[in-house]
This record gives sequence, structure tokens and C-alpha cells, in this order.
Amino acid sequence: MSGATLRAGVIGLGWAGQQHMAAYAYAPGVELVGLAGLEADALTSLGETYGIGADGLFPSWQDLVSSGGLDVVSIATPTTLHAPIAVSALDAGLHVLSEKPMAENATVARTMVEAAERNDRVLDVSFNHRRRGDVQALKKIVDAGLLGQIYYAKAGWLRREGIPGLGSWFTRRATAGGGPLMDIGVHMLDMALYLLGEPGVRSATAATYAEFGPRGRGGSTSGTMVKTGVQEGAFDVEDLSTAFLRLDGGGTLLLESSWASYIPRDQAYVTLYGSEGGANVEFGGTLADPYRALSIWTEKDGVPALLQPNVPPDGGHQAAVLDFLDMVAAGDSTSYRGHEALARAVVVDACYASAEKGGEVLL
Ligand SMILES: NC(=O)c1ccc[n+]([C@@H]2O[C@H](COP(=O)([O-])OP(=O)(O)OC[C@H]3O[C@@H](n4cnc5c(N)ncnc54)[C@H](O)[C@@H]3O)[C@@H](O)[C@H]2O)c1
Repeated sequence: MSGATLRAGVIGLGWAGQQHMAAYAYAPGVELVGLAGLEADALTSLGETYGIGADGLFPSWQDLVSSGGLDVVSIATPTTLHAPIAVSALDAGLHVLSEKPMAENATVARTMVEAAERNDRVLDVSFNHRRRGDVQALKKIVDAGLLGQIYYAKAGWLRREGIPGLGSWFTRRATAGGGPLMDIGVHMLDMALYLLGEPGVRSATAATYAEFGPRGRGGSTSGTMVKTGVQEGAFDVEDLSTAFLRLDGGGTLLLESSWASYIPRDQAYVTLYGSEGGANVEFGGTLADPYRALSIWTEKDGVPALLQPNVPPDGGHQAAVLDFLDMVAAGDSTSYRGHEALARAVVVDACYASAEKGGEVLL
């Protein structure tokens, strides 16, 4: 980063918003000057943490966006607020980094891309998991051609009991747009398409299930899979989805997403099957007992071989924010208007449409 210091704001004070705040506080060439969110206590204490005075703290996102004090803004609110905030901020001349999923559906996500285009501003979506060190190491292996032609891939994120905020905005279609496919499956879809080199998706065949949430089971705060007394209508999304995607060039991708299921432990993975090698990147377990693994199998001179690449440190949200700031600093937003994230939204839409239809949906 070079040139004048950028002024940044963050909308949303939850876990995700706080990742963006920490990243802006760490990044060079940018100053965190504004926050917005509904929780008055959190607004005050986060303002103190980041040295932001009362004139930079707003309960209303509209007041922060129109304050005239920002160059860039991160959006970490419930999903259906991403587009209204992003469009308003882009129209006000700000560059925007939105949390995933981009929006509740691709039609709405497209309005964000259009706003970035008409205002010539950067629009990016924070896919922090692709910035993991193991994923970055695997990306280098794939791009070097060591796996040959990748013809099949499997990706998934399955939780033992991890419905976020059972009964909160996360589990209502009106505020979240969908369930685990929208929330965590989209990370794995992003990771898989990124590793595969952005193939187009031709069709989706998917199914969705809701076996836990409607019965008040599987909440991430319950500790056990007992009924937690979910309110009527407070869970109207899926809690498991499975999808089979056909890709340009004949490849296929199997995508599983679940917030709760009777499995031994949480598991997130991408497995690649190539003509010259295979790979698996995986992480999961519990906070107390996490695990992660990167395995790459190939053969050398006819002998089975296991590659063990150097794995850089995880980038996470910090890398997502630094990449976004680099896009802004580059001064040419034409390549950074949310098209990749929009492509993910189109696939997620097709999966939900397929599940609804009970058959294949062409893209
Ligand atoms: N990338 C990741 O790893 C990751 C992890 C968690 C959440 N997320 C995403 O981040 C977003 C937020 O998730 P979270 O878990 O932090 O949610 P949260 O519910 O903890 O926080 C949401 C915040 O939005 C604010 N908000 C809601 N309505 C508002 C309004 N009208 N004006 C101003 N602020 C408003 C709330 O006050 C709150 O501070 C979601 O899109 C979620 O999908 C991403």
C-alpha cells in the first residue's frame, strides 16, 4: 500500500465485524475511523478498543455511510442487509468489502456488481477460508500442474451440532436467504472453484433437508443435541444440503453442507482427483481438539509418492482485508467488482432451485 491513508468503517459488531476491525487496525495505509451496529454497549467498547471517538460511532449504518468520513467500508451484518448497504455505499463513492454470502440470492447480488460498475469502485467478498495456509500451498501445487487434469472434486463442511444462533437471523430465510449451503457451504464452494481454476458450473442437482432445526436440535450453543425450544417459524431454512455440480470441461464437484448431523466430529474438506495426483485438505474437530491435514498423493517414476509442501501461515480475514486494500490501492477496479462472488451466488441459487424442483437445473 502506498499513498494517502484510507479511512475505513465497519458495519456489524459481531464476530465477523470484529475480524474486519482487527484487520484494519493491523493493516498499513488505512485507519479505522467509523463503526456501526445496533448494540450500544459493544459500539462503545469497540470504539474504545480502536480509539474511535463518539463522532465515528453510529447505531445506524445509513448515518455511517452518509457521514462523508470514509473511503472503504466492510459489511458484516445479517445477509439480507449486505446488498442495501453495499449499493448505498458504492453509490456514495466508497469501496466495499462484504462478508459472505454475498447476498440472499444472485439477483440481489447482481445489483451490487452493477453498483460497483456504475461507480467504478472495488467490490469484494470476504472468503477468508481460501486464504488458509494449507489451501494456499495446495493452490500452488495445482497451478504447477502436479495433479494433472482434475476431473472430480468433493468439498464439504459438515458440523456435528453447529446451527448458528438457532432461532436468530441465521435460521430465517427472510434474513439469511438460506441455511448451511448459504452460510458455510459457500466457503467450500469458493475454495473448490478457486483450487480448480474457476471452471464454469453447467448444472446442479441438489437436495435439502431440515431434520434438526425445526425440532430445536443441533444448536451450536446447546452443547448436546437436546431440544432447545426453538420458536415456531424461527427455523425455515435447510440444515443439510447435498449437491452434484457438472463443470465446464466435463469435471464434476460434489458439495455437502450441514450445520448439524449425527457424525463423529465437525469436518470441512476439499478432495481433488487428478490424472497425475490427488489431494485432500481438511480441518475440523472441536475448539478443544482441532485437527487439520493436507495430503497430496502422486507417483514419481512409477513409485507412489506423498508430497509435503511448505505450508505458509493462515491468512484468514486479515489477508482478505489486505487483498481488498491492495485492490483499492491498485486504482483499477475493473477486475474487482464482485464477479467471482456473484458466480458462487448463481450456483447456490441453482442448488436451491434444484432441491425445490427435485431435478437437475441448468445454468
Ligand atoms: N467469513 C466468515 O468466516 C464469517 C463468520 C461468521 C459470520 N460471517 C458473516 O458475517 C455476517 C455477520 O455475521 P455475525 O456472525 O457477525 O453476525 P452477528 O449477528 O453476530 O452480528 C451482526 C451485526 O449486524 C448488526 N446489524 C444488524 N442490523 C443492523 C442495522 N440495521 N444497522 C447496523 N447494524 C446492524 C448487528 O447490530 C450486529 O452487530 C454474516 O453475513 C455472516 O454470514 C462470516
